[in-house]
Amino acid sequence: MIHEVVITSGKKNKAPIGIYFRAKSEGFCNSTLRSDKEKEVVLHLFEGSHTYENLKNDDYFVVNVCHPIDIAEAVLDDEDDYGYLDWNGKELPYLKNAYKIFVVKINKRKFITKRDNFGESKLMVVNGEIVFEKELNNIITPYNRADGLLVEMAVIYSRLNNEKIIMKNDDREAMKKDMEKYFKIIKKVGSKKHVDLAKRFMELIK
Ligand SMILES: Cc1cc2nc3c(=O)[nH]c(=O)nc-3n(C[C@H](O)[C@H](O)[C@H](O)COP(=O)(O)O)c2cc1C
Repeated sequence: MIHEVVITSGKKNKAPIGIYFRAKSEGFCNSTLRSDKEKEVVLHLFEGSHTYENLKNDDYFVVNVCHPIDIAEAVLDDEDDYGYLDWNGKELPYLKNAYKIFVVKINKRKFITKRDNFGESKLMVVNGEIVFEKELNNIITPYNRADGLLVEMAVIYSRLNNEKIIMKNDDREAMKKDMEKYFKIIKKVGSKKHVDLAKRFMELIK
């Protein structure tokens, strides 16, 4: 399974990214809870993002396990309350309000070209291992339906906003319709924070 997290890298950069946790001999993690055996982390990064450039050059990055609102918000800008970890003489940024952070050391990079519905794209597959982990905030909140929908809005927004993705007009309109549908539900079930962020996405795709 894929876990959605926020990757912090460079000096002050954050991005929502899907990652795989893997145990050496046992394959990818297929449970909502990661076990301590799953020390490997795999990322598929599309060429063109700051995260791609940072992880192409740096040896370490931070995985931030966050609330879904923070995951969705991370697609918009890099503003946040960052802390810094001194790691092998390098300052690694992390998000102070993450539930948990993992420092990952990159062991391998593979460059591939992928073909899918959105055309051809260049990808860097990053393999790393967890070298440090720390729980920062132990907050338990009940599930709210707006959480998942907001992350879906962020995914659609990042696709609509990507100049490299050439999309048929019908597909673009269908995605905007999905955004409208999610927005309506978020207004019904979400907090002010959910609604304000969803509004920002709706404004940006106009
Ligand atoms: C939930 C979510 C998951 C994402 N997963 C990935 C991913 O696995 N790989 C990737 O290259 N981009 C992914 N993206 C898109 C990047 O977050 C997006 O391109 C972002 O703007 C990159 O920011 P940066 O330029 O600061 O690195 C994802 C977006 C969202 C909302």
